Amino acid sequence: MDWHGHTILAPLTKGGNLPFRRLCVELGARVTMSEMAYSRQVVRGSRAELALLRRHPSEACFGVQLAACKPDEAVAAGRRAVDAGAAFVDINAGCPIHDVVRRGMGATLLQRPAALARLIEGLATGLSVPVTVKLRSGWNEEKINAPEVARLMEEAGAAAVTLHARTREQRYTKAADWGLIAQLAAERTIPVVGNGDILTYYDARERQRQSGCASVMLGRGALIKPWLFREIAEQRAIEPTAEERVAIYRRLAVLMKEHFRDDAKGRERAMRFLPWHLSFFWRYRPLPETEFGGAEHPLMQTRQRFDADIPMLEQVLRDPREQVHRLLADALWDAADDAAAVGAALEIAERNPVEGPEQQDEIETSFG
Ligand SMILES: Cc1cc2nc3c(=O)[nH]c(=O)nc-3n(C[C@H](O)[C@H](O)[C@H](O)COP(=O)(O)O)c2cc1C
Repeated sequence: MDWHGHTILAPLTKGGNLPFRRLCVELGARVTMSEMAYSRQVVRGSRAELALLRRHPSEACFGVQLAACKPDEAVAAGRRAVDAGAAFVDINAGCPIHDVVRRGMGATLLQRPAALARLIEGLATGLSVPVTVKLRSGWNEEKINAPEVARLMEEAGAAAVTLHARTREQRYTKAADWGLIAQLAAERTIPVVGNGDILTYYDARERQRQSGCASVMLGRGALIKPWLFREIAEQRAIEPTAEERVAIYRRLAVLMKEHFRDDAKGRERAMRFLPWHLSFFWRYRPLPETEFGGAEHPLMQTRQRFDADIPMLEQVLRDPREQVHRLLADALWDAADDAAAVGAALEIAERNPVEGPEQQDEIETSFG
């Protein structure tokens, strides 16, 4: 597998469900990744965990990400992933959440580089597909060790490393350190995938050019505007109208119907995801390069602006309120076609007038 020149959909717990990945593929993604699956649960045959390994036929290159700390368990889980269609297996060495790090997985592996190297060695010899590792910069700012860990990964047989260039403690409070990605790319022979803060085609272009990374990975950018894959492939701004966005969001609802089934139970399951996706979609704004392309690089959550005079449909799609996301999700599920979805969204706008300027909230998440 050639790791150069790709725009990879990041592993996204909850967000990287199969219908959303299909939507990304339809909008230009070629390399997709599963949500993080726990090796132990995979080996035990947990239905919920095995469901995470499922690949849709439209996914040309699908990687499965595993949380693991024991080589035997990881290899056994990796084999199941390969049997299910994974083109590569990725090990999570960056997840900051307490439950994961306390059990010796995720970001804890950054503190135990030798153990991580043994894990990768075991997988690289035990699996028939390439093995990759997703790192963070380090545990905290005093312990930035991604360059050293990446060297060990290369020696252990990793086919590529991804760096989400923030520490475990930083979460999303600081901009990703693309200088560190550049350092890894310069030092390593294996391809380095750069990850952090890409929200536009010019972010991708500039980050790739400045860092020399082989490929880039999109997390929140894909959740906010899944057409970002196409935007990057075509190297131009894609700014869908509110009506066009309704059609994209309804497409996700249709893909969820196919996946979860079009009945009461399916709807209930889909509603665990669809309003959640709308809590990312509302953050979309056009960000012209002339205005936002400078050296100054604001955080993703602050690259939003408030326009008082926008049409009703635009207003409701930009509404940050959870109850509005739930209403929109229902409308998208029920609509027979895009025009009906637009009509229903306008009705929601009328019944739920915006009271003041949107909050400039933080994208806070416990994942990743
Ligand atoms: C909702 C959400 C879920 C995530 N789940 C995972 C995960 O399961 N595995 C992982 O390695 N990273 C996970 N991440 C981190 C992303 O893969 C990515 O590294 C991070 O968001 C930085 O990229 P971005 O700035 O493009 O969002 C998650 C991030 C978000 C926002």
